[in-house]
Amino acid sequence: MSKEPKNPTRRALFKALGAATAVGATVGLLPSCGKKRDSGAANLSFAEIPHALDDRHHLPVGYNADLLLRWGDPLVPGATPFDPRALTPREQERRFGYNNDFIAFMPLDPGAGPGEGERHCKSRNSTRGLLCVNHEYTQPHLMFSGYNDEHSATRGVSAQHVAVEQAACGHSVVEIAKTDNGWRPVLDSPYNRRITLNTGMEIVGPAAGDRRLCTGADSSGKRVLGTVGNCAGGKTPWGTVLIAEEGFGGAFQGDPDAVADPVEARNHHAFGISPHNRNWGEYDRRFDISVESNEPNRFGWMVEYDPYDPSSRPRKLTGLGRFQHEGFTLVCKPGAPVVAYGGDDDEHQFVYRFVSNGIYRPGDHTQNRQLLTEGTLYAARFDADGSGRWLPLLFGQGPLTPENGFRNQADVLIDTRRAAALLGATPMDRPEDVETNPVNDCTYVMLTKNKKRKHGDIDAANPRPRNVAGHVLEIVPPGKKGRRDHSSNRFKWNTFLLGGNPNAEDPNERGAYGQQSPGAISTHGWFANPDNVAFDPKGNMWIATDGCERFGFHDGLWAMATEGEMRAAPKHFFGCPRGAEVCGPEFPDDGGYVSTTTLQVFSTSSAINRGVR
Ligand code: FEO
Ligand code: CA
Ligand code: CA
Repeated sequence: MSKEPKNPTRRALFKALGAATAVGATVGLLPSCGKKRDSGAANLSFAEIPHALDDRHHLPVGYNADLLLRWGDPLVPGATPFDPRALTPREQERRFGYNNDFIAFMPLDPGAGPGEGERHCKSRNSTRGLLCVNHEYTQPHLMFSGYNDEHSATRGVSAQHVAVEQAACGHSVVEIAKTDNGWRPVLDSPYNRRITLNTGMEIVGPAAGDRRLCTGADSSGKRVLGTVGNCAGGKTPWGTVLIAEEGFGGAFQGDPDAVADPVEARNHHAFGISPHNRNWGEYDRRFDISVESNEPNRFGWMVEYDPYDPSSRPRKLTGLGRFQHEGFTLVCKPGAPVVAYGGDDDEHQFVYRFVSNGIYRPGDHTQNRQLLTEGTLYAARFDADGSGRWLPLLFGQGPLTPENGFRNQADVLIDTRRAAALLGATPMDRPEDVETNPVNDCTYVMLTKNKKRKHGDIDAANPRPRNVAGHVLEIVPPGKKGRRDHSSNRFKWNTFLLGGNPNAEDPNERGAYGQQSPGAISTHGWFANPDNVAFDPKGNMWIATDGCERFGFHDGLWAMATEGEMRAAPKHFFGCPRGAEVCGPEFPDDGGYVSTTTLQVFSTSSAINRGVR
């Protein structure tokens, strides 16, 4: 992180979001000044913006935004100007995708080279680094002519379109640098890379090689092409990035009831595979479950890759379970197991935790890279008295036996949802990001909404029927601040906030924030549908939303303290254009918030057309 010697209170924020003329565009955000900040909410001195709904982004006075990357922008030097009418799969593989549901900023150490991930990660350089961006899914009616709307776009009109879409999905790595003209991509960087639905990957961990992962193209069950449905993710201190595979079922076509094996039929139903899904299977047969019934089992995992080694093969980590992964975020304490938290983003699905068998040893590159391959996955049970238990998903324990259809640990992991339900985990209101505040050492669960929650199945942790506005839970592992034991199987929990308007007439839509004292939040401080979360170096929580337009205003970012008088009292920082959502807030570790330049990154899934009409 670079110093700002002329004005020690000056901060620089950097942002990625949709812009008025772009899909999934990326912009830099540079404030002109800021007030000295002491701690917690006292730092949140920006001038709050109002709720609004229009085609612009909104940010506080003193901040501005620059466009950085849009769909189709090249990631290599010498490319021709982007022409969506001439787009080929090969061209798309050299260009940025869109629907950027996650961003990681990975610093570049000037003294380190490719393959030295852990050394790069220790760098505090935030004037040059790698922007690692998910491209969650494609919308062909925004890319090509010949489609009327989103609905018609489920039926691809050509093999070429399907191939371009598959090249646009996945992930981008692009070096960015701070210049006199703001942040810019470095097109001749050796690190720039696209990961697509055709990138070769390994399958590792307890389920690797299981017969349910074998296909006609891969009899080993250990090699797979590509990743899809890439929602949020995570970062590791050993220099790798985690990509979540969330809504993968939509890529597959076919009738689960026509699959001979009833186990797979039930499994495919659970992830929304149907004859009415998009028709990729007509052009790429591995996405037709009547041809390859096991191919969907090779998706729905967390993927780990090394952005500092452009030739490295990403790995699907079966130990972290198979479901609609929102992301996994890590707690790494030297000498302790690595603990990773994640959620399954679907109605009545579960919150998960993984505890590694091995111990995190900073600098032990070889051992650290195996930490996420061997360990135990747990699902959370939230009890009414404010306590909770982590329930281990281990073959042979409790109900996870052959009598219930589990042959081995691979079955437990491939059918994670069914295993967690049998253990008695608490079905939640669509768990999105689950992340630990590095300052107070507590873990926060974003629960975005659940329209399927009925009056009869509310519980203490999901207290509202037809939960339209979502809520946030706080998990408190045993121990004191900074030394909490995240590997303990017991925890305490409480409701941090309820989303929604605090003055709503309907009590089931009424929000609850902070101390509930009059004036704790402004009329613009409330929000709904928490999705992604990040913590700044002072421990303030920054929540990105997905769904506020239902309440009459844009999605955006709200910041709040997690402790003290202003705990859970949000303040509105950013609003994005109509039709877009804000994703992946990110605070690179610059070691300072007041006297140094702070780099903050987030991205947008935008539905603004850059294609052909
Ligand atoms: Fe892709 Fe869970 O939102
Ligand atoms: Ca999300
Ligand atoms: Ca979302």
